[in-house]
Amino acid sequence: MATAPRRNQPRWRRRVGWPSAPLSRRRFLAAAATVTAAGLAGGACTSKPDSRARVVGPSSGVVGQAEARRRRPGAPVREVALTAAPVTVDLAGRAVITWAYNNAVPGPLVRLRAGEVLRARLDNRLPEPTTIHWHGVALRNDMDGAPDMTQPPVRPGGRFTYEFTVPDPGTYWFHPHVGLQLDRGLYGPLLVDDPTEPGRYDREQVIVLDDWTDGLGPAPEQLQARLMAQGGMMGQGNMGMMGQGGPDASTVLGGVGGQVDYPLYLLNGRPPADPPTIQARPGQRLRLRLVNAAAETAFRVALGGHQLTVTHSDGLPVVPVTVDALVIGMGERYDAVITLGDGVFPLVALAEGKHGQALGVVRTARGARPAAAVRPGELDGRLLALDKLRADARVTLPARRPDRTHQVVLSGGMMDARWTINGRTFDDAIPLQVRQGERVRLVLANQSMMFHPVHLHGHSFQVQTQGGGGVGPRKDTVIVRPMERFAVDLEAANPGQWMLHCHNLYHQQAGMMTTLSYVP
Ligand code: C2O
Ligand code: CU
Repeated sequence: MATAPRRNQPRWRRRVGWPSAPLSRRRFLAAAATVTAAGLAGGACTSKPDSRARVVGPSSGVVGQAEARRRRPGAPVREVALTAAPVTVDLAGRAVITWAYNNAVPGPLVRLRAGEVLRARLDNRLPEPTTIHWHGVALRNDMDGAPDMTQPPVRPGGRFTYEFTVPDPGTYWFHPHVGLQLDRGLYGPLLVDDPTEPGRYDREQVIVLDDWTDGLGPAPEQLQARLMAQGGMMGQGNMGMMGQGGPDASTVLGGVGGQVDYPLYLLNGRPPADPPTIQARPGQRLRLRLVNAAAETAFRVALGGHQLTVTHSDGLPVVPVTVDALVIGMGERYDAVITLGDGVFPLVALAEGKHGQALGVVRTARGARPAAAVRPGELDGRLLALDKLRADARVTLPARRPDRTHQVVLSGGMMDARWTINGRTFDDAIPLQVRQGERVRLVLANQSMMFHPVHLHGHSFQVQTQGGGGVGPRKDTVIVRPMERFAVDLEAANPGQWMLHCHNLYHQQAGMMTTLSYVP
């Protein structure tokens, strides 16, 4: 926040934005101190009577033990080099300066098999500190990329090597976890292949969606400053969306689609005026792996003339459901299989409740390209509903009564620009404590007028559909609509300190984040 001298800002505002936040820094050091104390005392709890210090730190012994259980002897190590740096990208003929990995938006596809080890070297050529977070992967805590929580951020010019076992197959992605960097071009897909994949498809395509302002509209920092200045007008539902016109209500999202109308929406880094083409043959089964890498936008996705058979949510298999369209929130992933017809078809990702869309072209025949503003009727057809998704038996958590329940109340947007969990912004947050081995229930309750895609690091939870039974999908990111409330259950099997936050980057930055904190 370069907009005003720090002393002129309200107290909470000085304390959100973690690169320089004193408390979170202290929390990191406290965790580190615990590791040392536990190491010297052979695991006995000898730390000071400061409750913050009695946590399972990111490099404590049990984190290493959990990793050792995941690692197969002789597992192959896949090496990848990622350089985060400023770059000029071409958006339908406009040269735009942004930040990206390895000079491309999206960054390189990182792909390996479940059980293998990823060794990813990050070189930071940005003018700011950065980290990489491996979104959705149940990895060792010290490789999670949460700045000042699981690692000090990597300084400009610095280097850090992430190394961890990737235990579960699925569609994941990676992005920085510092400041507003995600609203630039810093993101990439991560695919983990299943050695036992039934493979009921002929070809596949990763589709990464993004909302884009960098170099075209206000910079992310300017957007944040405007949102802060706009304050609590959100609550009255009359805050003008920046850009053309006002906000459109979205019935799927139960309110406005967002607070920012972006100048462009991108599919695999390309705007609708220059859409990427997926070439295939009629009758082929195409598996789409959809990733929403946007900072502030949910998308409604459909392929003209086709139905989508949804097979995975956030990388984990579900009982397949066939729909015309689906809405994907920030941070979510869906895999869908499509049996292709004969022709040229628009793959549209409508910015839900906003103005504009991202576009791709699926081509199995010759013919003219669809117009940039094409709106296939499938967008208004049968929509995927969360309560229609059930986890596949392979990933369904066994029925078990929760050992512990935490309330996660999402609010904000009323009196000021803060967004909170349980009434607190991140640096004042009271961590949600858990113990290894527990079944933990999080009751997500949205008491605000905007949807929040809630993401938990290092775990996937099972959505408890209405009426209980625990048969909903396994996910790591889930949309909670205004005034909606439901529970998600998880096994506390991955010790460490894990972020739990809204994946609307501007909400996260304005405080909507806390910690799922393992304690001894
Ligand atoms: Cu994809 Cu904490 O984030
Ligand atoms: Cu939010």
